[in-house]
Amino acid sequence: MSFNTFGRVFTFTTWGESHGPALGATVDGCPPGVALDEAFIQQFLDRRRPGTSKFTTQRQEPDQVRILSGVFEGKTTGTPIQLMIENTDQRSKDYGDIAQAFRPGHADITYHMKYGLRDYRGGGRSSARETAARVAAGGIAHAVLRDLAPQLTITGYMVQMGTLHLDRANFDAEEIGNNPFFLPDASAVPAWEDYLNGIRKDQNSVGAALEVLIRGCPAGLGAPIYAKLDTDLAAAMMSINAVKGVEIGEGMASAALTGTDNADEIRMGNDGPRYLSNHAGGILGGISTGQDIVVRFAVKPTSSILTPRRTINQRGEEIELITKGRHDPCVGIRAVPIAEAMAACVILDHLLLDRAQTGGTRGRIG
Ligand SMILES: Cc1cc2nc3c(=O)[nH]c(=O)nc-3n(C[C@H](O)[C@H](O)[C@H](O)COP(=O)(O)O)c2cc1C
Repeated sequence: MSFNTFGRVFTFTTWGESHGPALGATVDGCPPGVALDEAFIQQFLDRRRPGTSKFTTQRQEPDQVRILSGVFEGKTTGTPIQLMIENTDQRSKDYGDIAQAFRPGHADITYHMKYGLRDYRGGGRSSARETAARVAAGGIAHAVLRDLAPQLTITGYMVQMGTLHLDRANFDAEEIGNNPFFLPDASAVPAWEDYLNGIRKDQNSVGAALEVLIRGCPAGLGAPIYAKLDTDLAAAMMSINAVKGVEIGEGMASAALTGTDNADEIRMGNDGPRYLSNHAGGILGGISTGQDIVVRFAVKPTSSILTPRRTINQRGEEIELITKGRHDPCVGIRAVPIAEAMAACVILDHLLLDRAQTGGTRGRIG
């Protein structure tokens, strides 16, 4: 299988399957001299780790990352950084029933049709285990961004789960890390818990919508056509398993707006342009404006549920299938740190691309 590499200058290539001995990422293009150790990367992995609440899969993976190369005496050397995470809690027998059958909503059928064979244990390469490797790579991107753009912050949170929506009037970023839903509203947590408990009891699952807010991004990142910052952010989010829609700024809602509502008017501020609104989500013509970059995306409900579903097997027989095993009742929850990691990799890649092309020159205003 090819196409396992992400990025242009700051790149990572992920490898490994859900039930193999280990998985990891090879990160290349990382600038030298950046302070980096395993503990720094680990904090990001700990936020994505399974088995941390009853609202995520009960697979217990410590997700301990090891740096095998590219770091010497606590600093990156500019050579490839090999990251490895061992799989320790595989339960492959859960997957015996699907060796010959195709789970609805999963990649089983498309992998079989394309490659003629697949590692069916835990979904193999299509499992969200792969995203641990990206989160580790994202940790390195964060370490570099700390040096190159110290003012930049990347914050992910849930804005919707099934029929429940975040009440933006209660938005409190401090609360995101205090509840199992990455929800910026403490008062809504009990209702979200009750709702997801009900979904679980009904042997069902539910979808979600997430937002990533990138603050302090310098103006001028991105390119006009084939490397638009919004194109790359959308591709990064869409590359996460189970993501089915991505929006920047007003996104799909812009279809209902008029030009007078939508165009973000500009005044002159003390040190540059000052925008009176941000319907564009911080990107114009593929290039960052310096405003907040706002990316939203929808995650489909977990396909593996204990309710029988109609499907077919490899012999072409029509069957009913219950997907056993340990599953996330709402995969959107653990997608939050994955989305932050992907955003960090895109922004860093564009920072390095911008340095390479323009050397940091900027047009003057005023
Ligand atoms: C963090 C995360 C956890 C996931 N956990 C599960 C799970 O427990 N069970 C499941 O059926 N799908 C899970 N998925 C989704 C599948 O990996 C995904 O739906 C499947 O590979 C098919 O790919 P697609 O949905 O992108 O088309 C998860 C996805 C993410 C991002």
